[in-house]
Amino acid sequence: MTSVTDRAPYRDPARPIAERVADLLGRMTLAEKVGQMLQLDARGDLAEIVSVKTAGSILHASPARMLEAIEMAAATRLGIPLLTADDCIHGHSFWPGATIFPTQLAMACSWDPGLVERTARAAAVEVAATGIHWTFSPVLCIARDLRWGRVGETFGEDPFLIGELGAAMVRGYQGAGLADPTAVLACAKHFAGYSETQGGRDASEADLSPRKLRSWFLPPFERVAREGCRTFMLGYQAMDGVPITASRWLLDGVLKGEWGFTGTLVTDWDNVGRMVWEQKVCADHAEAAAVAVRAGNDLVMTTPEFFDGAQEAVARGLLTEAEIDGAVRRVLRLKMELGLFEDPRAPDAARQAAVIGCAEHAALNLEVARRSLVLLRNDGVLPLDGGLAAGDDGRAVALGPSRTIAVVGPNADAPQAVLGDWAGASGQVDWMPDGHPRETIETVLDGFRAVAPSGWTVTHARGADIEVLIPDPAGETYPDGQPRPPIFSPAPVDPELLAEAEAAARAADVVVAVVGDTIALTGEGRSTATLELQGGQVDLLDALVATGTPVVVVLVHSKPAVLPPSALAASALIEAFNPGMRGGRAIAELVLGLIEPSGRLPVSVPRHVGQQPVFYNQARGQHGDRYADLTQEPAFVFGEGLSYSRVEYADLEMREDTVAPDGVVRARVRLTNAGARPAWETVQVYVSDLVTSVTWAEKELKAFRQVLVPAGESVVVDLEVPASACSIVTADGRRVVEPGRFDLLVGPSSRDRDLMRVGFAVVD
Ligand code: NOJ
Repeated sequence: MTSVTDRAPYRDPARPIAERVADLLGRMTLAEKVGQMLQLDARGDLAEIVSVKTAGSILHASPARMLEAIEMAAATRLGIPLLTADDCIHGHSFWPGATIFPTQLAMACSWDPGLVERTARAAAVEVAATGIHWTFSPVLCIARDLRWGRVGETFGEDPFLIGELGAAMVRGYQGAGLADPTAVLACAKHFAGYSETQGGRDASEADLSPRKLRSWFLPPFERVAREGCRTFMLGYQAMDGVPITASRWLLDGVLKGEWGFTGTLVTDWDNVGRMVWEQKVCADHAEAAAVAVRAGNDLVMTTPEFFDGAQEAVARGLLTEAEIDGAVRRVLRLKMELGLFEDPRAPDAARQAAVIGCAEHAALNLEVARRSLVLLRNDGVLPLDGGLAAGDDGRAVALGPSRTIAVVGPNADAPQAVLGDWAGASGQVDWMPDGHPRETIETVLDGFRAVAPSGWTVTHARGADIEVLIPDPAGETYPDGQPRPPIFSPAPVDPELLAEAEAAARAADVVVAVVGDTIALTGEGRSTATLELQGGQVDLLDALVATGTPVVVVLVHSKPAVLPPSALAASALIEAFNPGMRGGRAIAELVLGLIEPSGRLPVSVPRHVGQQPVFYNQARGQHGDRYADLTQEPAFVFGEGLSYSRVEYADLEMREDTVAPDGVVRARVRLTNAGARPAWETVQVYVSDLVTSVTWAEKELKAFRQVLVPAGESVVVDLEVPASACSIVTADGRRVVEPGRFDLLVGPSSRDRDLMRVGFAVVD
């Protein structure tokens, strides 16, 4: 049967979108309009959500419910299609067997925007085949206080690197544009300043001045807004007393006004309700709805009370229907731009079979995992036996004597630890209690078993446990319905496990000790007071190193850890973060020398939790440069990472000594590979503004270039920094280039002694 609306102008794709939206809006009741502003949790009562409340959007729809939800929307009075969303932040998190890439922090170690773009593209192809139109990614928060539980979701601590990688991810997700059936909407989050916690406590009030925000927190968001990122998600927190959801200055003034953003805004989880029950800046849901709509929000995530609240706000005169129309217009326009009225982009079984977890994506996943690994220390033990060659089957071929490798530690064979948060059984959804299929994940032990030369022996001992989890007596969920994590308690040292590991170490030629953290110590609401390795892990490392067998420590965890002396003095140290489904294999390949180490830290690693924060680009000025009882130096600095070769920097020279504010600073440096293996080098370019009108960072990353330097060869690398990037934010909040003297610093890390320095001037 054909309904009246089948021939309505809003259904006619030949008409201009503005005309279609106006026609549709004119047919909608207030309740239907408010419904379009809702984004509700699809694990609830679908009929209530889609048919009764006519929600405009859903998230967390299980594979089994997605089609049902889309069909229900088509059957509503006006047949407005659903916009479907989920957190597919390093692959399609909650689709069994989908490709799970390294976490953002791990990917950031590659410092390779092109590679990050390709992973986002592959993720989008998988996600789009499952009926999801929108991923809540990338995270553009700046990692500063590492106690915060969500550091692993970030690209690290540097605004420039975050902006470059974030923009790459946006390009990858959004593909050839919204008409591209493999495109998914990107979402820049959490706008803005969410990571500036108090003591690492998640979503606590951010103590940020507008100037500090403009200096370091906003630039990555501005970068992706200009890149065409179609949606932004608003942080939970308040800043200077104003919840972001209510910040007209940030949303209307900065984002839409100054940057010209015309996309769609979504709140974070129950931000609108939170203004009532948590932050207590609104007396009821009608007030909160009025505040949120007036600030320019479009979609309201998981605040079902917004449905009645917004209608009541209109009835009470707190809000006009015209103000609601503004938001609804933007939601409808987005749906029309995606072509959802013509094609709701429902799950497509044939495409799923072809692309989800396909061989091409698995190969890319291995490539990005390899590039994510950062070698932090090496006394020469690596690569093992001077480095092996790969045979046709990918397995190493050894010409020398056979060896025994003991792969030890609680994360040596821990599938969820290689995946990290937002994947399978990480706690956000209920339809994958056992996580991703075990056979799709390569742990470090699996990796060694797969690639160690045949004839070599790979042994395994867990050696220690990390945690004992205790159900929180306060209940399974928070007041907002999100799961309340269990209480973490460190596992006691287990003498039997320890003895077993020591014996394995003594019987081996080399120990690969895989330590780190767990999901219980990672993520939203799971910030940590400590950064040390938990449970029996420190005792384990001490005991392994004491055996005298060379120990290669591999860190598989969500964020930087404070390491014990035994780890810092071990024969080798590899930072892997959460390296994704193929991570275990990549680690084994690195240890055996089948690949070259090339990752660089996107975040500084402290020596002590009390040093927080240790990010490299802190503002100048303090008494002295150390604590009375400890250095302020981090254990490892931003940008640090070794190769299996030695690359020397020389002959840094400016092409021109002076540059106009709209010009380009151009320099050149010679790199020589003095070792015997090729090196994939990341040349880092920092700028120091020698005198500034207000305090500023001593140096900031402004460019980087990656070059392959073959063994024994030299290459000359040209470097460019737009003079407009040599800017600061003035006392009154304007970003300007202040003419005068600058230094260009070039080298392999942010550490002063690693950098060559040459002066230049910006002249008006
Ligand atoms: C809350 C998180 O803060 C956000 O990052 C995520 O996208 C939403 N929940 C939806 O799951």
